[in-house]
Amino acid sequence: MKQDIILKRIEEKLKVLKKARPFPPYLVKKLREQFSLEMNYNSNAIEGNTLTLRETMLVLQQGITIKGKSLKDHLEAKNQAKAIEYLYDIVDSKKDIPISEMLIRNMHSLVVQNIDGVEAGSYRAHDVRITGSKHTPCGAFEVPQKMHELISWHKKNKDNLDIITLATEFKHRFVHIHPFGDGNGRVSRLVLNILLMKQGYPIVVILKNEREKYYRALQKADNGNMEDLVFFIAQAVERSLDLYIRAIESSTKENSLVSLSKIAPQTKYSAEYLGLLVRTGKVAGVKDGRNWKTSLDAIEQYEMNLIRKKK
Ligand SMILES: Nc1ncnc2c1ncn2[C@@H]1O[C@H](COP(=O)(O)OP(=O)(O)O)[C@@H](O)[C@H]1O
Ligand SMILES: [Mg+2]
Repeated sequence: MKQDIILKRIEEKLKVLKKARPFPPYLVKKLREQFSLEMNYNSNAIEGNTLTLRETMLVLQQGITIKGKSLKDHLEAKNQAKAIEYLYDIVDSKKDIPISEMLIRNMHSLVVQNIDGVEAGSYRAHDVRITGSKHTPCGAFEVPQKMHELISWHKKNKDNLDIITLATEFKHRFVHIHPFGDGNGRVSRLVLNILLMKQGYPIVVILKNEREKYYRALQKADNGNMEDLVFFIAQAVERSLDLYIRAIESSTKENSLVSLSKIAPQTKYSAEYLGLLVRTGKVAGVKDGRNWKTSLDAIEQYEMNLIRKKK
């Protein structure tokens, strides 16, 4: 099948990533910030939010109100940020939190909080249409039963299907039911990520500029042909893996990494203080057995950042 080669490649890339874990804290933080913003912007923009990536960043990081953009656009960005935090909480949790209706409804609550016209966390009480799609979802009265079946379907199939196919099919079955009055697309992309990230994948972003391709693949899936959608999601997974691997490779050039006690005399810091900087993620470092290593480069970068902040 069309997706076999890419799925094989993804497996190999995931292995590379898993081998590089744990990543240095500063890098985890940086990648999370970058990808959360990307996810936030793209997932909302696909659904008609008019904030740009930069505007989304300004709203979230500086609390700025963008002139000419609606309150709803602003709220959606803030809500999405909370939902992504919740996503990371679930994924980081040591507890095994299985996908459930409650979890999906919680996610929905966060996504549409304070937005008029949608009841946060409740299934729809009316019939809906999906703009730009030929598929008409089931009647409202069927939603609880279908959602119940969706969770059973997951339980039954989670050990037989490869994770990309499983997560994609779950995502499609979910939007096909369209259980909420609004917010289904955004919730579906968060749920897709719960399933993938629990297996060690980095967060996957469906890009706004691929919306048409995405809708075409969903349409095909409605007609029983999942291949294009699995391939589409697999490409998004591979993109995130590549970006993560590249970021990690450039941060951990093994040969330039030196133990803190060896490098300290070449700097103005003690090994103890460097240890603190590395552990708190302020200076890039990696753990080698029980000891941390860092590089002159990383220390220089930290100092440059300090100077920039002072300015
Ligand atoms: N043909 C289709 N079959 C199933 N789901 C679809 C189809 N076309 C689009 N969708 C899904 O419907 C979502 C839009 O539903 P909606 O409830 O408005 O989500 P949101 O409020 O997050 O905008 C899209 O993001 C997409 O995931
Ligand atoms: Mg919508």
